[in-house]
Parts: sequence; C-alpha cells; structure tokens
Amino acid sequence: MAFSREVREISSDVYWVGVRDWERKFFDKLVPLPEGTTYNAYLVQGEEKTALVDTVNPGFEEDLEEKVGQVMDPGELDYLIMNHAEPDHANGLSHMLSLAENPEILATKKGKDMALSLYDLPEEKFRVVEGGDTLDLGDKTLEFIDAPWLHWPETMFTYFREEGILFPSDFFGAHIATPKLYADEFREDVLKYAKDYFGEIMMPFRPRAAKALDKLEDYEINTIAPSHGVIYRNPEKILEAHRSWTSSEVEEKVLIPYISMWGSTAKMVKVLRETIAAEGVDAVPFEVSSQSLNSLAGELVDSAGIVFGTPTVLAGPHPQIIYIATLAKKLNPPTKYFGVVESHGWAGGAVRELSNLVEGTSGELLDPIEIKGSPEEEDLERVVGLGEKLVEKIK
Ligand SMILES: Cc1cc2nc3c(=O)[nH]c(=O)nc-3n(C[C@H](O)[C@H](O)[C@H](O)COP(=O)(O)O)c2cc1C
Ligand SMILES: [Fe+2]
Ligand SMILES: [Fe+2]
Repeated sequence: MAFSREVREISSDVYWVGVRDWERKFFDKLVPLPEGTTYNAYLVQGEEKTALVDTVNPGFEEDLEEKVGQVMDPGELDYLIMNHAEPDHANGLSHMLSLAENPEILATKKGKDMALSLYDLPEEKFRVVEGGDTLDLGDKTLEFIDAPWLHWPETMFTYFREEGILFPSDFFGAHIATPKLYADEFREDVLKYAKDYFGEIMMPFRPRAAKALDKLEDYEINTIAPSHGVIYRNPEKILEAHRSWTSSEVEEKVLIPYISMWGSTAKMVKVLRETIAAEGVDAVPFEVSSQSLNSLAGELVDSAGIVFGTPTVLAGPHPQIIYIATLAKKLNPPTKYFGVVESHGWAGGAVRELSNLVEGTSGELLDPIEIKGSPEEEDLERVVGLGEKLVEKIK
C-alpha cells in the first residue's frame, strides 16, 4: 500500500493528513530536492468544530480528500486555516471548498489578498485573523501567531494551546520525503536538512525569523509540526538550531565556491583549502558545476568567510560563478570576509565584476588574487597568504 494512504494521529484527535512527494526534484525551479519533499497538512478535531491546517501542493488534492475522509466526512469541515498563501500549502483550498459548503478560510489580511489574487476563491469565505486571535473548537483552542515574512509577507503560525503544538507552516521546515513522521525516528543528520532549507528559504529574512523565535518564548511548545519534512516532538534542538542560524554567529569555516575549466583556478583552490585547514579552520570547497545547490545554501548559513574561485570567461567571472555569487548575496548570509582567486588568459576582468557583486554585503573583501594562466610558485605563495590572513581574521 502506498504511503500516501497513511494518516497518523499525532495527538488526541489531531491528525497528520499530509502527503509525500517522492519524485519532486526542484523547488521554485531553483532549489534541488535530493530526497523529495512533503506537504504536511493537519486536521484538528474538536468536540464541536474541526479545522484543517494548511493543504497540499497542486496534484495532491485527492490524496488530501481521501486522508481527511479516513477521519471524518470532508464535507463537514468547519475551518480551513491558511498559514501561508503559497500554492504548495494553499492551492488545495479550492478543492476542499468544493467538497463542503461550510468552511471558512482563516488567514491574515495579507494572506486573504494574496489568496484572492492567486486562486479562484469566494471572498466571502474568508475570515481575517490577527496575532492573538483564537478559534474555539469546543475542547480545543487554536491561537494565531503573527509571523510575517517567513518567507512571504502574509505568513502566520497556528498554535494548539491545550497540547502545545505549533503549526508554523514553512518555518522549521525541511525538504525530505520519508516514511518517518518524526525527527527522532529519522536519521541523526536531520538538522542538516533543516539547515539547508533554512539557508534556501528563510535566511534572507533572518531578522524576521529572530523576531518570531523571540515571540515563541512566550509559548509552551511540546511539538513543532511544520508543513515540510518531519515533526519535532522534542523541539528544543530545532529551536536552538534556529536561534543560532538567525543570529549573526558564524563558525570558523571558509566556503570556497569555485569552478575551473582547465585546472588553474583549481590548483589555487587546493592550496587555499589546505592552508586554511592546516590552521584548524574548516575549508569547504564547493565545485559549482557538479555539487548540489542545497548544500551550498546550508554552508552559507554559518560560514565566516567565502572565497570565490573563477577563471575569467568573456571578460568576467565564469557565468556559473556569477549565478552563485548573485544568489549568495541575495540569500543574505552572515559572512564576515570575502575573497577571490582568479586565473585569466590575457586581460582578466572577473575580479572587477565579482567585487561589485560582493559590494553591499556586510562582509569585508580581502585583496583578490589575479594570475595569468597556471599558477607559479610565487602565485601560490600569495594564495597561502590569503589563506593565512583569513584564518587570522576568523580566529
Ligand atoms: C570560453 C573561454 C573564454 C575566455 N575568456 C577570457 C577573457 O575574456 N579574458 C581573459 O583574460 N581570459 C579568458 N579566457 C582564458 C581563461 O581565463 C584562462 O585560460 C584561465 O587560465 C582558465 O582558468 P582555469 O584553468 O581555472 O579554467 C577564456 C577561456 C575560455 C575557455
Ligand atoms: Fe513557502
Ligand atoms: Fe512550503
């Protein structure tokens, strides 16, 4: 039997009715998903009323209907809670509404506006909620927590008071499709998935994320049930990890995104990584044409330094390095120091363009290294110098 038939009770009368997307390879046509993802939705059944928290990605509407149907008649749903308007969680609203007359859609003001612009939904079905508002299901109370810009302007969290279960939608998420429902049943490296995800999706909004975490201090949270990935029954570790990822604290680590067509840049990168590692600082080379972007995002979360390695191609950085540098800048990592090692055949030009890309970040750009052709002994001495300088600054 397919796992998509599985419904799990995560607390008394609270059900996971999410789906697993084993086949999905990319998110937002940008982020690779080496292990697929999940779209988690949750059914909270009170003595009097029943609410569905979030829905599922386009294409999974009938799975959701079937799963809700295992617990109750989907036609009897009272509330559809939309924590986030993005289609992976909100597209299923129309389908759920087509099954039942009653349900109201609860969303923030911005959420309602966005949903109306994205989906064909009747405006009168919406009830706008604000942080602190509650929804009484009889013996269960849901409270809405203001949590904007995680990662769209309209986002909010839903908190099930009596059991201390937080439904934070995308926040605390991870892209993993696994038959394991809980983080403690999944592999030891679960936080690596959460960290990659944080880097890809939430890092540009670090101040907002920190604010949300501060707000959560006022709540007793026993379980965190996000809309992607696994559920955390003992949330202290994932909370602590997010506190550190949202701070500007960095590890003693230098990330080296590089590419090399004929090996000259690669020779410099090798010397650089060995110099840095010999001094006890982590050096993480990232070969941009062959490695997966998700792990780059994860490394960006806490690297003290980034050194780009690139040949000059058509008077600028290699196009794949332009892409990575642009993306890295937009993701707003807490990087303190930047560097560039470059090789060219005649006039160069990559360093100028990369320096422009680094400008506007909070990091300091150390003297770039430009060489002609394959590095000579003295060129490699300069690379050693850059490595030592980085280590000295970072330590
Ligand atoms: C497609 C291509 C375009 C290039 N464009 C330039 C250029 O505009 N300016 C320049 O100085 N060198 C240019 N070069 C030369 C390379 O920058 C030079 O060979 C460099 O040493 C390659 O480093 P790598 O071995 O790390 O790939 C180009 C090389 C190739 C293959
Ligand atoms: Fe989202
Ligand atoms: Fe999402």
